[in-house]
Amino acid sequence: MKKPMRIDILTLFPQMFESPLNCSILKRAQDNGVVEIVLTDIREFTTNSYRKVDDKPYGGGPGMVMMPGPVFDCFEHVRKLSKSKGRVILLTPQGEKFNQKKAIELSGATRLIMICGRYEGFDERIRVGLGGEQVSIGDYVLSGGELAAMVVVEAVVRLLPGVLGDEDSASEDSFTKGLLEYPQYTRPEVFRDMKVPGVLLSGDHERIAKWRQQQAIERTKKNRPDLLQGK
Ligand code: ADE
Repeated sequence: MKKPMRIDILTLFPQMFESPLNCSILKRAQDNGVVEIVLTDIREFTTNSYRKVDDKPYGGGPGMVMMPGPVFDCFEHVRKLSKSKGRVILLTPQGEKFNQKKAIELSGATRLIMICGRYEGFDERIRVGLGGEQVSIGDYVLSGGELAAMVVVEAVVRLLPGVLGDEDSASEDSFTKGLLEYPQYTRPEVFRDMKVPGVLLSGDHERIAKWRQQQAIERTKKNRPDLLQGK
């Protein structure tokens, strides 16, 4: 059997991950040996008696900045836990915007090491010294990278072979083909006077495929015209 993908998450709040990692698809993927997710608490790597991980920014300004020491020590410890060096990902609103293409790309890695920032940000030497890719999940600011890391983990893990059954394969997902997904219906045929479109009951696979394609294009034009640019 293929070796599981290993995902290390370095965070000040490992407890935030408990329920998202222990439900549904992420739980099943770990139980089935498709992925191994390991949380490490950055605070364990502080050397001062207050277990301090942040400090005031040089030059002044609001908020606190994550100190490089504990993050570097934690990273160096974690990196040695497995032979594969892995792709290093820093979750930060200053990163490259995450999308389905990036999720597909990351799903090909053998190991990901994800570092969650807190407070106003990382000391710049963490970015420079650890290298790695900076990833943002969108143009808004969260209080830390934890929720962003969960988003990336969920999007990546569902793409790993064996996680989704054939019947809910990821190939039909929105964005995979550059379009939003077409509308879906299930039973009952009529719900509160709203009917399932007749074409879906026709059994004519060619007409159904055409209708779905048209609907996907219309929906994309309306909600996400940016996806159609250059097409
Ligand atoms: N940390 C805070 N905000 C974030 C965002 N939008 N994406 C990734 N990490 C973050």
